[in-house]
Amino acid sequence: MKKILVTGALGQIGSELVTALRETYGTDNVIATDIRSTEAEKEKGPFEVLDVTDADAMFAIAKKYNVDTMMHLAALLSATAEKAPKKAWDLNMGGLVNALEVSRELNLQFFTPSSIGAFGPDTPKDNTPQDTIQRPTTMYGVNKVAGELLCDYYFHRFGLDTRGVRFPGLISYVTPPGGGTTDYAVEIYYEAVKSKAYTSYIGKGTYMDMMYMPDAIRAIITLMEADGSKLKHHNAFNISAISAAPEDFEKAIQKHIPEFKLSYDVDPARQKIADSWPNGIDSTCAAEEWGFKAEYDIDKMTKDMLEKIAAK
Ligand code: SER
Repeated sequence: MKKILVTGALGQIGSELVTALRETYGTDNVIATDIRSTEAEKEKGPFEVLDVTDADAMFAIAKKYNVDTMMHLAALLSATAEKAPKKAWDLNMGGLVNALEVSRELNLQFFTPSSIGAFGPDTPKDNTPQDTIQRPTTMYGVNKVAGELLCDYYFHRFGLDTRGVRFPGLISYVTPPGGGTTDYAVEIYYEAVKSKAYTSYIGKGTYMDMMYMPDAIRAIITLMEADGSKLKHHNAFNISAISAAPEDFEKAIQKHIPEFKLSYDVDPARQKIADSWPNGIDSTCAAEEWGFKAEYDIDKMTKDMLEKIAAK
């Protein structure tokens, strides 16, 4: 990885990934792209407006900067995708196939994230194995499974160095997520600091995998830098740090804000998605094949989140 093109660079992952990549690989070696732009972004380093469904524009930017790596992040998340399934298909699959084709033509190392959303109600719920039943019931999940298979296909068929992880819900204080099912686990911290109370749209006892953003960023960079000959899987590695339900966040927050109050007003649409996902996935393959281990548990993450949000 010497010169990296990032799509969806202004999103929840992209905004922090670009900063981290620029620190390691140099500002001018990380080309941030997104469908929208701001003057502030352009001042931080190379930035191009890119609609990922426009294959020619993507190819032109990759060629212009002579990149050797593609990190394709642009996508609609689960709850938004459920509201606009056709748009999600066009953006999530159209963008991915364009990014893979550009990478094939220019022989780029490739990263794209899959998700716990690639699992479905028939998947074993606890300690979900790396290789298991995947019959998701959401458009987002259908996109993610197809994406995992497509990345494997480009690896086997064309020898493209595709890599990826299945991210859990990602928690961060920099850029809010947009339209995900796990977003409550970010909102809860902002509301805890602001109003010492939060009403959760996900019901009590609903467990999902979560991870603090610094672990997620480290996962991407270390996977891309890992010795490829040691990887048995290349794409869609299960990775998780925390398996938690809303009441676990409540308890962790109350250690710092004892008066914090959690109540519930369940949103049936997002609850249905959450119920179709695992309680907790098994990340053994990521640990064995490229040595990944998360550093933040719920308490360590909560302390940092509350401090950083309060400082904001
Ligand atoms: N955080 C994502 C979502 O909720 C999971 O990939 O859609």
